[in-house]
Amino acid sequence: MAQGGNRSARKLVMSAPFGKSTRTEAGAMRITHPSYRNGVLSEVQTATKKEDRLQNSNELTSRGRAELVETRNKSRGLYWVVAVFSFFVNLLMLTGPLYMLNIYDRVLSSRSFETLLALSVLVAFLYAMMGILDFVRGRIMGRVGARFQSDMDRRVFGAVLKATTNSRAPREAATGLRDLEAIQRLITSPALMALFDLPWVPLFFLGIFIFHPLMGILAVVGAIILLVVALLNQFTTRKLLEAANAAGFASEQLGTHIRAESEMVHSLGMREAAFDRWQLARGRSLDSAIGAADVAARFTAMTRSFRLFLQSAMLGLGAYLVLINQLTPGAMIAGSILLGRALAPIEMLVGQWAVFQRGREGWRNLSVLLGHVPADEPRTQLPTPKASLVAEQVTVVPPGEQQAALRLISFAVSPGQAVGVIGASGSGKSTLARVLTGVWKPAGGKIRLDGAALDQFDPDVLGRHIGYLPQRMQLFDGTIKENIARMSMAPDDAKVIAAAKTADAHEMILKLPDGYDTPVSAASGRLSGGQIQRIGLARALYGDPVIVVLDEPNSNLDNDGSVALNSAIKGLKAEGKAVLIMAHRPSAIQECDLLLVLENGARRAFGPKDEVLAEMVRNHGDIKRSAGKSGGVS
Ligand SMILES: Nc1ncnc2c1ncn2[C@@H]1O[C@H](COP(=O)(O)OP(=O)(O)OP(=O)(O)O)[C@@H](O)[C@H]1O
Ligand SMILES: [Mg+2]
Repeated sequence: MAQGGNRSARKLVMSAPFGKSTRTEAGAMRITHPSYRNGVLSEVQTATKKEDRLQNSNELTSRGRAELVETRNKSRGLYWVVAVFSFFVNLLMLTGPLYMLNIYDRVLSSRSFETLLALSVLVAFLYAMMGILDFVRGRIMGRVGARFQSDMDRRVFGAVLKATTNSRAPREAATGLRDLEAIQRLITSPALMALFDLPWVPLFFLGIFIFHPLMGILAVVGAIILLVVALLNQFTTRKLLEAANAAGFASEQLGTHIRAESEMVHSLGMREAAFDRWQLARGRSLDSAIGAADVAARFTAMTRSFRLFLQSAMLGLGAYLVLINQLTPGAMIAGSILLGRALAPIEMLVGQWAVFQRGREGWRNLSVLLGHVPADEPRTQLPTPKASLVAEQVTVVPPGEQQAALRLISFAVSPGQAVGVIGASGSGKSTLARVLTGVWKPAGGKIRLDGAALDQFDPDVLGRHIGYLPQRMQLFDGTIKENIARMSMAPDDAKVIAAAKTADAHEMILKLPDGYDTPVSAASGRLSGGQIQRIGLARALYGDPVIVVLDEPNSNLDNDGSVALNSAIKGLKAEGKAVLIMAHRPSAIQECDLLLVLENGARRAFGPKDEVLAEMVRNHGDIKRSAGKSGGVS
């Protein structure tokens, strides 16, 4: 049950900031909020000690690793097939040396053309078999790699998204998909195939020993030296390769970012500065890549030349043994070839080390990522909820932050009601919108939709029930229709048009070059701020949500737009839906029945709009009295 314990400990740490929190030397969080003074407090302090946290992260990592291993093991049968194929391929590798042996010792000495022909036909056949087996095992591994990737794709992408919104394991989340590709590349690469060949290396050594023990000893010593070189290679290049990968990724990220913000870069005269920074990152990436490649090349060259030297040395030793009549010339040549075969997998491993290294790094990163972001458990399908939303003592700490952005917020909305949420900039309105839509999880308290806490809904299902217009509206690459239909693979035309009409976007969309099929791009976008906002409203309304959360829906709207927005809100209320509107401008709260006033993340007032407004006016008039009524109107 260690996991459960860890989870509750984490939760409490998250909630710490809404009391006073101080860090002690041991890294433990001391929580001085009154409600945590007794009971749970001591548990929290012990559970968050540094070692425990380390242990916790190790446990999480091994949980993630277990998930990867499980997926990898789905292809276990195929790995065995490849292993069996590899056995035969390696066995057939003996074809060359044996042919050589027979040519020298039988054909040449007996001058028999028949033997030569028979041997040659046999060898051609065996090589063909080997080729086929080698080809097939390569194909199998290609598919095993592809299968691993496609099995993990959704899981990893989901974890990346979740980790990014929750800011958990951010470094691993940034590279998650690349890590997966790196593992796939490793599975498909010749490097992994070399691993399958490795167990058969002793077979070749045995062959050499059979020719002559001295040759066997030379082969083994040579192989040991090569292995040492391989290990040295690993130790010296690991950090370099990791740094090169990281630097490459960073420069690419920066490039993408600058491209996405090209308009801003141009208009603010940031081009030079952006280029300089980008070039710096690129230079750094190049430098470390060259550094890593240099070291790797040194090892590759060393291994290659040493192997060639070994083969010649073997030939020399063989010649000496022939001269003293301990070996036949055929065995001399065959021994040298066998040695080449035996050392090939080792040489391959050294040459392909970068692929190996990157795959291992990916494996490690994904273990951390998947461990920190567990898979969604399937949830019981709840019936479509009624539009009743209750927040109970909700406290929210933005991901990666220490300070709570909302503290102990409570309110309730019933079907047919609209609530205006007002407050100064930074008072926590958008934070409330995020937590209501399930983007962020409350660190304390509960939000219930028709009685069920939000986390009892599947995130996608919740998204259908709660429509959301974010403050910073962004469109996806795609047509307007696809955007309104939330990128659904099968957009429902009637629903799209209904939503657009409610949002008063229909006429505006029809005026665009291709109407609903006009493509928009996330980066440049051909639409004005107000147009985007209307499309965003239509997107929020698509598919009959029961609750609609609108974060500053009118910040870009003209007068007509505001009127349309208000009539849309009226319509939603009449349908028994609930609407929450975060707003600065009074025109947006015209249709609101209730008002929630936030101040510095706390609830300042909540109640019927007129009462709250009257109260606020009164408070302005008489500051002393307002101090007495700090609870506000509820
Ligand atoms: N992603 C985030 N990470 C860290 N802190 C955040 C994040 N988002 C918001 N905050 C913090 O939470 C507080 C409330 O921000 P929020 O965006 O909810 O304000 P707001 O009321 O919507 O303001 P505005 O009217 O300007 O939109 C701010 O202090 C802000 O710094
Ligand atoms: Mg906001």
